[in-house]
Amino acid sequence: PRVFYLSRHGQSEYNLLGKIGGDAGLTDAGLEYARRLAVFANDVVGKHVVKDEETGEEKKVPCPARLWTSTLRRTKETAQFIKKEVITTQKSDNGEELEWIQFQGRTRRNLDELYAGVCDGLTYAEIAEKFPEEFQRRQEDKLTYRYPRGESYMDVTLRLETIVLDIERTREPILIVGHQGIHRLLYAYFMGLPRDQAPFVSIPLNTVIELTPHAYGCDEKRYVLLS
Ligand code: F6P
Repeated sequence: PRVFYLSRHGQSEYNLLGKIGGDAGLTDAGLEYARRLAVFANDVVGKHVVKDEETGEEKKVPCPARLWTSTLRRTKETAQFIKKEVITTQKSDNGEELEWIQFQGRTRRNLDELYAGVCDGLTYAEIAEKFPEEFQRRQEDKLTYRYPRGESYMDVTLRLETIVLDIERTREPILIVGHQGIHRLLYAYFMGLPRDQAPFVSIPLNTVIELTPHAYGCDEKRYVLLS
């Protein structure tokens, strides 16, 4: 696409407790972010600027746009206020008018957060206490470390391949409501960062990252919607 957007879900009950993984719903702050994200989707993601040929004035008009979430509650709840809207757009090829449902949601399992296996639902302090050797091994090599009965960042890289291909071939702007680990990998891939840096990329809550691909990477803009 010309541009695409990465957002984590709003704050979840587990974020508040410092627990990883799980399938918790949003806190009140998370719901507030969800409302603000809906405004952002409507104003920015689903609009493009056109110039009136006669007056030369620029105005924003609705454009086709896509919305992808994971299968987890927290991303679906974050996307819940984004309005699906039927818009009509002129296709230039043969001038035919096509109807578009903007922001029709698509849930994609490959966008689910890195699965922490036996550590799912624990805090980092609990992991360090219950599984000290595992905790240590993860500190040593975060990229390849695989949680017992769970995944590593490398594992997730593989299941993101189809997502990356779909991003690359989609023409319309895409808003992806996902998770910290997932967005670290997508961000690192599109920004051309070395893989071993990916697990450390900062992807804060309450922030939309706008990526505009060009020949050798992407331009980036961050919008903090809630502080
Ligand atoms: O804490 C939120 C979270 O998305 C967890 O569900 C996930 O395990 C973690 O972030 C990934 O971050 P890190 O790889 O730094 O532990």
